[in-house]
Amino acid sequence: MENNVFEQLAKQYDTEERMELAKVIVKEVRPELGDSTSKSLIDYGGGTGLVSLELADLVDSILLVDSSKQMLEVAKAKASHKEITNSKVLYSDFTQETPELKADIVLMSLVLLHIPDTKNILQRLFNLLNHDGKLIIVDFDKNDKINHPKIHNGFSHEKLKKRLTEVGFKSTEIKTFYHGNCIFMNQDASMFISSSIK
Ligand SMILES: C[S@@+](CC[C@H](N)C(=O)[O-])C[C@H]1O[C@@H](n2cnc3c(N)ncnc32)[C@H](O)[C@@H]1O
Repeated sequence: MENNVFEQLAKQYDTEERMELAKVIVKEVRPELGDSTSKSLIDYGGGTGLVSLELADLVDSILLVDSSKQMLEVAKAKASHKEITNSKVLYSDFTQETPELKADIVLMSLVLLHIPDTKNILQRLFNLLNHDGKLIIVDFDKNDKINHPKIHNGFSHEKLKKRLTEVGFKSTEIKTFYHGNCIFMNQDASMFISSSIK
């Protein structure tokens, strides 16, 4: 985990552009949560908390999990500054080892593209969800203009839905909700939101 590029990036992560994109994501995710004031949420790959710290008023508790300690340090400082009292952080990489945890909702915002074995992480997140739990994924649509050895160049809705069904989710809804300029490795791209029920 020490070689994680996000360790270097953490203190400069919250640029105007990333904050703007996070606002767009927050706006799309908030209605997905509905009445969740008694529910626990894990923000997997939560980073500096740009998305989930803006959801804290909608849920009972938030656990930001990340494989970068530095990103979590920024999130912790921000939560304290914003006087958010129902969030915690956990330094962990579930692709290596998944702790005994349970949650009602798992959110993954712009994280799946960084994880080579998508089936493995989706299976692990499925396993930790409570009965009727929800997995919300926000990521980029498949984009042939992008080619990078360490990241997926987005996802096709059809293939992702198939994968989510394979790991056990009983239903999945996916839709594209935003098109932006230079938002994915400096290329124009679109983002989808996927919502699956265990
Ligand atoms: C592009 S950032 C997104 C941060 C945040 N979710 C957001 O939308 O602002 C990706 C985050 O995923 C984390 N990450 C990447 N691979 C991970 C893994 N295998 N386990 C946990 N976190 C991971 C990185 O450290 C980074 O904080």
